[in-house]
Amino acid sequence: MANISSPSADAILTWYDRNARDLPWRVPPHESRAGVLPDPYHVWLSEVMLQQTTVAAVTRYFLDFTGRWPRVRDLAEAEDEAVMGAWAGLGYYARARNLLKCARIVSRDLDGRFPDTEAELLKLPGIGPYTAAAIAAIAFGRQAVVLDGNIERVMARVYRVETPLPGSKEKLRGLARGLTPVERAGDYAQAVMDLGATICTPRSPACGICPWMESCEGRLAGVAETLPRKSPKAAKPVRFGVAYLGIGPEGAVALETRPESGLLGGMLGLPGTDWREDVPEAVPPVEAEWREVPGEVRHTFTHFHLRLKVFVGRVDALPRDRLRFYPGDDDLPDRLPTVMRKALRLGLSAVEDGFVERA
Ligand code: ADE
Repeated sequence: MANISSPSADAILTWYDRNARDLPWRVPPHESRAGVLPDPYHVWLSEVMLQQTTVAAVTRYFLDFTGRWPRVRDLAEAEDEAVMGAWAGLGYYARARNLLKCARIVSRDLDGRFPDTEAELLKLPGIGPYTAAAIAAIAFGRQAVVLDGNIERVMARVYRVETPLPGSKEKLRGLARGLTPVERAGDYAQAVMDLGATICTPRSPACGICPWMESCEGRLAGVAETLPRKSPKAAKPVRFGVAYLGIGPEGAVALETRPESGLLGGMLGLPGTDWREDVPEAVPPVEAEWREVPGEVRHTFTHFHLRLKVFVGRVDALPRDRLRFYPGDDDLPDRLPTVMRKALRLGLSAVEDGFVERA
């Protein structure tokens, strides 16, 4: 096509200077232009939180974590339970366990300083290629190629890549590499992230105000919104499970700490069956008159949808060492992940309805 200018880092950096989102882990562009870099601990923490979670959801957690544990050494010294509790609700709990492991390595072995290269960052728990590149670029100004789903979308549109993902990943990486500048690499990465979040959105992109509108091949061909193409995904399977809500003295609820490994590892939860595609045989954790609560909990994980039946029963004593009573009032324990909160809420509403008498 004749006379199409190429997209440039300069164009998007100029846009970022005026439109950067004000986020608590960021150094604003007028300071970063003067050479100020953000605290690597803040960049690492925010990037781990932002893996699979939106900026809107992360902000509150980021402020809470940095308020309680202002430096990586403070986080390294925190109790596991306190950190898992503070993480509850963010999901993907392996991230929280790796966060702690990583903080302890940085604190003990690296004198509290994060490594400043992608290769060294990649050796740390919970830091994959995307996060290593993001930290290297944002916290240390390295010319690292930062590529997540949002940046892939922007690249696929700007260069009109019609090959579907995931087959086009390496092509998109090469295109992203070609645009990444030596100077202000961190601002550049965050500029593309902001563009993807606010203008080059999955649906109805605001092409009319995009700093790359003149050069965007997807827009010029009228196909921007349809990109990136994606190979059809296998549908998520449905798994089934049963959870038991034991009601103890004074309305206490019996909860267990889940094993360290596996889904929701180390978090609190209602005891129950495994979650399987065939309906698992239900074996109650303790002897009681269990009653099935009408309805079910539905929750979607990365790889499956869950349907969880809840049983409630009066329980006076707890034989198993993993199980403990917690107050069943509004002050629910922090370490409960969202699916377990839903199950507890369903079970407690049945108790309210007189399903089991309170002691
Ligand atoms: N998503 C992932 N990392 C981000 C960042 N540093 N700023 C904004 N959005 C992001």
